[in-house]
Amino acid sequence: MNILVVGGGGREHAIIKKLKQNPTVTEIFCLPGNGGIAADAKCVSIGATDIDAIVKFAAENAIDYAVVAPDDPLVLGCVDALNAVGIKCFGPRANAAIIEGSKVFSKNLMKKYNIPTAAYEVFDDIDAALAYIETAPIPTVIKADGLALGKGVIIAQTRDEARDAVISMMRDKQFGKSGDHIVVEEFLTGPEVSVLAFTDGKVVKPMVSSMDHKRIGDGDTGLNTGGMGTIAPNPCYTPDIAAECMETIFRPTIDAMNAEGRTFTGCLYFGLMLTPNGPKVIEYNCRFGDPETQVVLPLLESDLLTVMQATTDGTLAETEVKFSCGAAACVIMASGGYPGSYEKGKEMTIPAELHDHVIVAGAKLDGDKLLTNGGRVLGVVETADTLKEALDKAYAGVKKIEFEGAYYRRDIGAKALAAMED
Ligand code: AMP
Ligand code: GLY
Repeated sequence: MNILVVGGGGREHAIIKKLKQNPTVTEIFCLPGNGGIAADAKCVSIGATDIDAIVKFAAENAIDYAVVAPDDPLVLGCVDALNAVGIKCFGPRANAAIIEGSKVFSKNLMKKYNIPTAAYEVFDDIDAALAYIETAPIPTVIKADGLALGKGVIIAQTRDEARDAVISMMRDKQFGKSGDHIVVEEFLTGPEVSVLAFTDGKVVKPMVSSMDHKRIGDGDTGLNTGGMGTIAPNPCYTPDIAAECMETIFRPTIDAMNAEGRTFTGCLYFGLMLTPNGPKVIEYNCRFGDPETQVVLPLLESDLLTVMQATTDGTLAETEVKFSCGAAACVIMASGGYPGSYEKGKEMTIPAELHDHVIVAGAKLDGDKLLTNGGRVLGVVETADTLKEALDKAYAGVKKIEFEGAYYRRDIGAKALAAMED
């Protein structure tokens, strides 16, 4: 089979490494891919949002199945466009990808179908939003409606910060049209859990839970990033909580999307907060998480392509989705300065024995040299019987990789290990 993967970061690399385990896969193309992915797939420089070029490439290269991994092509209708030329895809159509593409849509969906989430108000008028801010409980959370490269959420600790956030989104258009509508919501507290789930629109099969580490600094300090590391499973997510989430969140969300005529297929990502009043949805993503995928897929014992195809064919109920009972850890190495400005083009040395454990997010090839080419450069992923062992192995790998200015957090998994001792 010829497989096409749309995207070019660590998540796509992790997906490709797993897809390669299926013996019927003959060729994997990745658009655009990156210099590290090039070791595992044929990378072609077509941008992930260039839908017309993606469809043309797929039609000309006898693609049997496509995996559309990032949010923007999904929201733009890449699956619809590929389906229109007869190519089956993993991922939702645009009318279902809106669950991530519009926070106003997802909040209203949760309210209508009684799915637990933070209380909120929607505004499309700046004066009304500013008036509301004067009486809103502080801290408060302000979210731009549309996709904003993961940066459209501001937790305002003071009323001044809340006012500034509204003005920068709605008047100064910091996130462009995404700020035409905003959501102002209740600040929730509790451990965060990421749960990715396969669904064919009929049944929903959650994957092993995970924990992201979004801040740049140790101890969850400093600026937000695309994710500096992940561990799985998340020890805060007990079997009782998992059962409650299935009943109050996962199943109701699938049913709600069907009731709205927006059947969701592919991977639905539930960003949850385990609040003192029970689990609540912080956000939905219409895709695999990055870097959650890097720790979830190595624990998947079932064949990934088979499960993906079952979500497309509506046969997920009779398809086994089995995870190992071990643990996984991913430590991200970033360019010095990230998430602020940073230099690119630094040569990397990755020892051969780490090849299977390195997931490349931002790199390019220069002849046979691999050069850094992004903020997050790579992740070292290890699995083991226990989280502690997986973390020790991942950090041992990190220490063997060099590039100028390399930065990584020293405390990935520390919070999870502490939670396991409680
Ligand atoms: P998002 O971009 O939606 O994932 O939000 C980024 C981060 O902001 C989340 O991972 C949470 O840590 C935090 N966050 C979002 N919404 C809330 C909320 N209502 N209460 C507290 N924290 C939140
Ligand atoms: N790790 C968070 C995300 O993929 O959005």
